[in-house]
Amino acid sequence: MFRKLALSAAAALALTTGGAYAAGEGGHTEDFSFSFEGPFGTYDQAQLQRGLQVYTEVCSACHGLKFVPLRTLSAENGPGMPEDQVRAYAAQNYEVFDQEEDDYRAALPTDHFPANDTVGAPDLSLMAKARAGFHGPYGLGLNQLFNGIGGPEHIASILTGYTGEQRTQAGTTLYENHAFDGGWISMAPPLYGDDVTYADGTEATIEQESKDVAAFLMWTAEPKMMARKQAGFAGVLFLTVLSVLLYLTNKRIWKPIKYGKKD
Ligand code: HEC
Repeated sequence: MFRKLALSAAAALALTTGGAYAAGEGGHTEDFSFSFEGPFGTYDQAQLQRGLQVYTEVCSACHGLKFVPLRTLSAENGPGMPEDQVRAYAAQNYEVFDQEEDDYRAALPTDHFPANDTVGAPDLSLMAKARAGFHGPYGLGLNQLFNGIGGPEHIASILTGYTGEQRTQAGTTLYENHAFDGGWISMAPPLYGDDVTYADGTEATIEQESKDVAAFLMWTAEPKMMARKQAGFAGVLFLTVLSVLLYLTNKRIWKPIKYGKKD
């Protein structure tokens, strides 16, 4: 009986992973691979810095990152920029409104990235956690168990998912995009390839830029991912050792009863 159950469970799991995401609702999310996937995955610092560059030079024109403090750019498990660079980056790229001075001034590391409401684009701070790219099958969400929730994959898929078609509806131009729910998005394709020049010489193809900025946005949404994974790993290790000890203790306690011996 148990064997039969286990077999059918295994078969069901195999089917769901093989069936991929086609069964999910909404747009199609490509399963890009990222360095931070899996229980031991970590952020790739160089990639986060490239992603920051793409955000700064392209996306920040429309999207804000209002929940992200600029100072965190120097975080060791994040982009890891030296503090003087963060100071220069903040001052060069952003202006914030200072309540005390009642005027705009250059941003400081203690400020957050500004919000941006100019074209009604959503704030990107938490986007990578707000969107689940992997669904299904049949709304069970099992694909998330194997592929992760797919937030950064969703972002990278949106950026690479344009078909080139566009149409105007009620005065708004919509662009066809495989990855977007409903298939038509009001964001014009932001990337064309070579939109930025990477300092580390990486070739700035659309896919490369998309993955870099998606990785960066994963970090903004979950800056403490590495600490969380470490704590999780320590927890699992602790529980494993504890289980073994409890098993042995249990054996020992019941030994005289089970075998009628005293020791
Ligand atoms: C010209 C302005 C503009 C630029 C530049 C821009 N976006 Fe957008 N973006 C928008 C608008 C407007 C929307 C809302 C689209 C909609 O809901 O139809 C949007 C939506 C999004 C979404 C949400 C998709 C979803 O699932 O709801 C993501 C993710 C996104 N943009 C990422 C980016 C990234 C990353 C960049 C930089 C590479 C970027 N955008 C550049 C205007 C822009």
